[in-house]
Amino acid sequence: MSKKILITGSGGFVGKNLYSILKPDFEICGIDIVKNEFVDKVIDVSDRAALKNILDGFQPDVIVHLAALSNVEKCEMEKELADKCNVLPTKILAAWSAHHDKKIIYISSDYVYDGKKGGYDENDAVNPAQYYGETKVEGEKIVSALKNYIIFRPTVIYGWDPDGMNFFMQLYRNMKDGKAMRIMTDQISNPTFVLDLCRLIKKAIASDVVGKFVATGNEIFGRYDFAVKICDYFGWDKNLLVPVGTKSLGQIAKRPMNCSTINKLAVEKFDFNFNNLEHNLAIIRGQMV
Ligand SMILES: NC(=O)c1ccc[n+]([C@@H]2O[C@H](COP(=O)([O-])OP(=O)(O)OC[C@H]3O[C@@H](n4cnc5c(N)ncnc54)[C@H](OP(=O)(O)O)[C@@H]3O)[C@@H](O)[C@H]2O)c1
Repeated sequence: MSKKILITGSGGFVGKNLYSILKPDFEICGIDIVKNEFVDKVIDVSDRAALKNILDGFQPDVIVHLAALSNVEKCEMEKELADKCNVLPTKILAAWSAHHDKKIIYISSDYVYDGKKGGYDENDAVNPAQYYGETKVEGEKIVSALKNYIIFRPTVIYGWDPDGMNFFMQLYRNMKDGKAMRIMTDQISNPTFVLDLCRLIKKAIASDVVGKFVATGNEIFGRYDFAVKICDYFGWDKNLLVPVGTKSLGQIAKRPMNCSTINKLAVEKFDFNFNNLEHNLAIIRGQMV
């Protein structure tokens, strides 16, 4: 009998990829608020009764909790909604997991860090600069009270997603349409390739390791330099990239500026390798045709 895996947010960017990667080896139940081919059941995960009903019916061995309000600006402006989407469902899932002694894999974010120093690892204190990060810290607290949990902190997840809006896809669409794109020069991070994150989650499902882990790529990029590298690889016109400072974007939620991270612990504990950008872009090139 294969393990049963419940994926919340299975219709989203990471969820779609994870659902496809896990499907051949596990019994999957994907849940999301909107139906697509990766969603088995449509529910609002903040609906306690509906979520409990699915958990009791499916009896997952592992819950991968991806569903979230991931729009950082919206979280800042609508804090109650952010709590409802990001904190309440985590509480419901954690209570069920504690009662049934099952594992949760919770996808947090590098936005738990304040971005003042860079070079963050799991020993650094969290101190989010905006409300989205606060909801992720709250989720981490809830999940880390369990016996059997894994927390991953990815950042700037990128990959091929024809229906989606991740940074790579925004760049792709603008370059394809010959449109200029303003990109911050002053936000630094180690972008996470979506298929790396999904491979890591798959390893975590099979592992007995417990704890929280930075789950970011090997290479540190300023966001503008990241875009330049992608344009160079695909032969896109990098003159369309307009370097700007974060302040000029007039965003409401503060962003962590230097959020470079160190993935050493995840690499060691899960015997995992994150591939480099060039390798990942070659995979994306194959997916584009
Ligand atoms: N993308 C990144 O760069 C990034 C970086 C760090 C961490 N993360 C975290 O990684 C996880 C996955 O991210 P992602 O990029 O795949 O996000 P995503 O594309 O927005 O996927 C999340 C999915 O959850 C759904 N959802 C939201 N609220 C829900 C609710 N109340 N009930 C049921 N479903 C709900 C969303 O539906 P709607 O779209 O209809 O709301 C969406 O389909 C999230 O927890 C995110 O915070 C993402």
